[in-house]
Amino acid sequence: MNQLSPRAFDGPSEYPYTRADFEAIAHMVHAHAGICMPESKAMLIYSRLTKLLREKGIGSFHDYTALIRTDAAERTRAIEALTTNHTKFFRENHHFEHFEQHLRQPFIERLMKGGKLRMWSSAASSGEEVYSLAMVLLGTDKSQAKRIAESDVALLATDLADHVLRAAETGIYPGNNGADIPARYGQLWTTSGTGGVTVARPVRDLVRFRKLNLLNAWPLKGQFDVIFCRNVMIYFDEPTKERLLDRLADQLVVGGYLYIGHSERFIGPAADKFTSIGQTIYRKDRA
Ligand SMILES: C[S@@+](CC[C@H](N)C(=O)[O-])C[C@H]1O[C@@H](n2cnc3c(N)ncnc32)[C@H](O)[C@@H]1O
Repeated sequence: MNQLSPRAFDGPSEYPYTRADFEAIAHMVHAHAGICMPESKAMLIYSRLTKLLREKGIGSFHDYTALIRTDAAERTRAIEALTTNHTKFFRENHHFEHFEQHLRQPFIERLMKGGKLRMWSSAASSGEEVYSLAMVLLGTDKSQAKRIAESDVALLATDLADHVLRAAETGIYPGNNGADIPARYGQLWTTSGTGGVTVARPVRDLVRFRKLNLLNAWPLKGQFDVIFCRNVMIYFDEPTKERLLDRLADQLVVGGYLYIGHSERFIGPAADKFTSIGQTIYRKDRA
């Protein structure tokens, strides 16, 4: 870090941006969201925050970092702008295939006997992940789907960033986003317009979206049968991942399933409670 001059980030940019500014912002996003932003992300920070400087009429990153030190609302906006929200329908499809082939039927039997099912998409971004899961749960038989929808089933989808949650709640996905939805689900559970696809009501009605920072307290009632926590731990350091996995373990019923992202690993003491039963799929076998 130190071999660069303090003003190495200035370059030809519109707003003065120094190493000290970068370090202050990286420190803040780590402290509040757990997200690690090494020096290789310095220009990413610059490009993601310039819009906020412009909106505020602030002329330098120095002044902006001073602002977000004291203005909690602006700090939240900055952190949200620094999140990476990339996702898509049926991403890492082997998870949805596993759910369909191994979990769906027993869960439906439980629901039809009056039991309950709770699932959580814990870094939901704009909702494609949780809607994919809801579509697989409802399946392709409309009358069975109606019975499932009327049973004691709920999907919770949470994220740190407000803007993605607001987009998710609309159920509207512009452009080509719907192309990743297998036709058998797309035909039943989306409607297409010129601008993209809209997720159908029965799917949307299964899901509640809430703002939740995985680093903070979780105001959750009860445990879950399934948790998706995919492609968020990649941004965290090892102690944060361990702590998160430990808390996720507590939030799962014994016999519940945890799905994590393709480049993530189960680390820390909570791993002893789990059995790896497939690629990045874990079952909690011990309390
Ligand atoms: C790359 S997306 C992953 C979306 C989806 N799980 C998937 O795999 O396609 C990562 C999401 O994690 C969210 N995120 C980052 N830090 C978070 C935190 N501390 N608490 C909750 N969500 C967080 C971001 O806002 C972003 O929407």
